[in-house]
Amino acid sequence: MKKILTIVGARPQIIKAAALSRAIKNNYSHLIEEIIIHTGQHYDENMSNVFFEELKISRPDYNLQIGSGSHAFQTAKMIMGIEEILLKEKPDFVVIYGDTNSTLAGAIACSKIRIPIVHIEAGLRSYNKNMPEEINRIMTDHVSAFLFSPTLTGIKNLEKEGFNLNAFPPFTSDNPGVFNVGDVMYDNSKYFAEISAENSNFLDLNSIVKNEYILCTIHRSNNTDDAGRLAEIFEFLLEVSASTTIILPLHPRTLKQAEKLLKAALWKAINRQLMILPPVSYLAMIELEKNASMIITDSGGVQKEAYFFTKPCIIIRSETEWVEIVENGAGILCNAQKQDLLKGYIHYRENPEIKFSNIYGDGNAASKILDMLLAQI
Ligand code: UD1
Ligand code: UDP
Repeated sequence: MKKILTIVGARPQIIKAAALSRAIKNNYSHLIEEIIIHTGQHYDENMSNVFFEELKISRPDYNLQIGSGSHAFQTAKMIMGIEEILLKEKPDFVVIYGDTNSTLAGAIACSKIRIPIVHIEAGLRSYNKNMPEEINRIMTDHVSAFLFSPTLTGIKNLEKEGFNLNAFPPFTSDNPGVFNVGDVMYDNSKYFAEISAENSNFLDLNSIVKNEYILCTIHRSNNTDDAGRLAEIFEFLLEVSASTTIILPLHPRTLKQAEKLLKAALWKAINRQLMILPPVSYLAMIELEKNASMIITDSGGVQKEAYFFTKPCIIIRSETEWVEIVENGAGILCNAQKQDLLKGYIHYRENPEIKFSNIYGDGNAASKILDMLLAQI
């Protein structure tokens, strides 16, 4: 029996972890034991617990309850908490996801006590170190033993940084293995789309009409923490809301910053004209994504889900790690400026036909990852 220790902390990591947990429970429970650490980076009921329940992930074995704080404060506390558990549990591998502070903390804690790191969503780059996530993902990749990239672009990025794509096992952080296995988020979207269709009636409960609304999410720190950018985004949304419904499940960071940074009159108008919701559950989110006419977001996960569900996507960022979406014409990068965003919106209103080719694997990324890990033992 091999022991895998999974570290999660932020909403998207809990969702991503569901794919591997499900595969372990269904097909590998005789070979793999999974232990879960939740750092507590996200802690509101609708940012954390709801996903464990809905996605049927086992309750975390440990919750460090670190909560919010500055990057250094939050990451340092996580490193200390994680190290203590690693020394006790002595896992064969530690699995970390994406690019949050919980990812980086896991990477630092494991690398110093020489536990092999499995980085899922390796190789992604925005080439913009103003994003804290870019720093987290570069540092994590460079101490990992197994780098599972969801895209070919990720593999090419790693090659540019000197990773040997033809390394032979045994894989260690000095001789890492680099693999393109597809995207665990695609595994989840495929799997939960059916469950959502059968079980979620969020649209009916909220009197939302299919295909007659735009779904929007905003939470990226460089958009929320700059009063000018945040106001431009909301002024754009306000203008579009004159002709179509805008549904905005609001991340707690964005709510706090909007209340603090926006002019009272603008915030009042936004609340009157947009459908602002607290963060929604994953099954509700899938239902909202599948039935939207367009998606506007700065989220990494939501831009991909827009692609999975064949929706045009306005990406409120100057660059993206998910370059294929933009290259395929399914997403358009727009600066946080009202006029730029309006241009993107008009583009898709006038050109709604988009071809969606398959670029995120076959929906079995989790099993491929587990097969490769077991082959190394
Ligand atoms: C984090 C990740 C980001 C990821 C996002 C997913 C880092 C550096 N950033 O950003 O990459 O895209 O999660 O959602 O790791 N808050 C609450 N309740 C919660 C969680 C947060 O109120 O349950 C508020 C707090 O005021 C907190 C703020 O949101 O200070 C930001 O939370 P934090 O986890 O630091 O960063 P995110 O913006 O969520
Ligand atoms: N999500 C959700 N409810 C919401 C907003 C997002 O379930 O109200 C899901 C979304 O479907 C995707 C993930 O959260 O699977 C994306 O997380 P987020 O946007 O917070 O972070 P990012 O992907 O940008 O790191």
